Amino acid sequence: MTLRIRIVAALVLAALIPMAVVLAVPLVQAEKRANEVTAKRVELAQKQASSRVERARVAFGVEVDRAAKALAADRNAIAAGARATLGLAPATAEALALRFGLDRVEIVGASGVPLASHGTAGGTADSAVLVERRSVATEGETLTLVAARTLGGPFVADVAAITGGTASFRAEGAAACPEPGVEVPVIDGAVLCVSVEPAEAKDVRHEQLKSFARVAPAAFLAALAVGLVIASRIARPIRELADRAEAISAQHAQPITLLEEKDETRRMTLAFDQMLDDLRASERRRLAAERVAAWEEIAKRLAHEIKNPLSPIQLAVENLRRTRQRAPQAFDEAFEVETRTILEEVGSLRALVDEFAQFARLPRPTVATCDPRTIVRQTLTLFSGRIEAQCIAVVVDFASAPATIHADAEQLGRVLKNVVTNALDAMEATTERSLQVDVRGEGDRVVFAVRDTGRGFDAEALRRVFEPYFTTRPDRGGTGLGMAIARRIAVEHGGTLTASGSPGQGATITLTVPVAGPPPEPA
Ligand SMILES: Nc1ncnc2c1ncn2[C@@H]1O[C@H](COP(=O)(O)OP(=O)(O)O)[C@@H](O)[C@H]1O
Ligand SMILES: [Mg+2]
Repeated sequence: MTLRIRIVAALVLAALIPMAVVLAVPLVQAEKRANEVTAKRVELAQKQASSRVERARVAFGVEVDRAAKALAADRNAIAAGARATLGLAPATAEALALRFGLDRVEIVGASGVPLASHGTAGGTADSAVLVERRSVATEGETLTLVAARTLGGPFVADVAAITGGTASFRAEGAAACPEPGVEVPVIDGAVLCVSVEPAEAKDVRHEQLKSFARVAPAAFLAALAVGLVIASRIARPIRELADRAEAISAQHAQPITLLEEKDETRRMTLAFDQMLDDLRASERRRLAAERVAAWEEIAKRLAHEIKNPLSPIQLAVENLRRTRQRAPQAFDEAFEVETRTILEEVGSLRALVDEFAQFARLPRPTVATCDPRTIVRQTLTLFSGRIEAQCIAVVVDFASAPATIHADAEQLGRVLKNVVTNALDAMEATTERSLQVDVRGEGDRVVFAVRDTGRGFDAEALRRVFEPYFTTRPDRGGTGLGMAIARRIAVEHGGTLTASGSPGQGATITLTVPVAGPPPEPA
């Protein structure tokens, strides 16, 4: 799979997963949601049914008021009532019932005697009868108008249509209204039952799935489009990098073909591994070439160094022969002088060869557990005579030295010996003479720092101090191999040897080696 596809897939998933979670939560809670919807419907039905009943009651009340007014204005009826001449009154009751849409009208005299009546109200179980009374004061007596209106089938159908459920009247105390639904009291003894259709959880789920299905394709396409743009932005530089790495490794001995690999990141990793291998191989070749070059240089310098004492020796021998031929009387004296010269030069030749042998045949370090402080102490003891003679103040600081390290104690001792020799040499010409030796642990390394107050380094000496045969004291037995040997030992231990300082400011030579000993030899 290419990196691009992976990024696109990740982005699409990143967009869809939260959506799915948003969807799943209501799906799980569909039951609760359905109950909420049902409760809302019940509440609405309650409001609608109550308002219908109230409106019917008010409308009825208004009609009864108007009927009472009409009766009060009807002088005939009142006269008839007062006289109680039955015959006219029934016509009045009928007229009122028809005029004001009342199902039953009854006119009662002051004594409670019914004077006239018209119509019937109620009677069926599926209805409720509203009844209202009004007193009508006349000149003669006060009559009572009793009016009734039946709320029956049409009213129930109206309520059912508005609430969207079914509606019916129930006598109070009879069977309970169906659930879910509402009960609206209408008159004493009758309630209006309105049933509500319950919301089903599966409908709620269905609804939610439908809305998810409407949104999901758009979200998917949007994520896909954004993903494609982002992915190609991310993948392009990586692909280019892989191409470049491939091109670089193609220029080397064993180019690898990575083109088969579609995944950019894997391609890049492979190309880099290959480049790393190439680098290691070329580093090995470079080191080998450098070693050869270094030995050539050493051989050249050695030849040069051997040639130097040869001239005085030759001159001395020639001088002796000439003296014996031309001035035999002076021969003994010349013999004394010239043989001393020859012996001196042979001596320095031997020193040169000895030190070269040491440099060339330096054995691999023999590692053992040792105490770095002991190495320093033993080295300083070697020089105690010279230190005393030169009046040198020696300061050692072992405060943060590790107690033990893994190293070739003898070889590290030789490094310190060469370093201290140079320091004492450098302080021959200065008046302030002090030598400070610090040993401290720094992470997984141990550091030996040797500071002197000698003449210090000029730029050339600082640059060449570790070069074999570089010496500023050829006239005083310097071979220029001491620091070269010291550095070789440091490197063989997996460490470093560095120099710092400036003219007149003294010098510091720092040896750093791993506490755990030299790293294992590379294969
Ligand atoms: N502590 C030091 N102070 C000043 N110069 C130094 C010091 N150590 C080394 N050098 C310089 O580095 C040169 C090389 O040192 P080395 O390799 O020991 O050879 P040699 O001591 O035989 O000259 C020395 O000749 C000297 O000029
Ligand atoms: Mg030296």
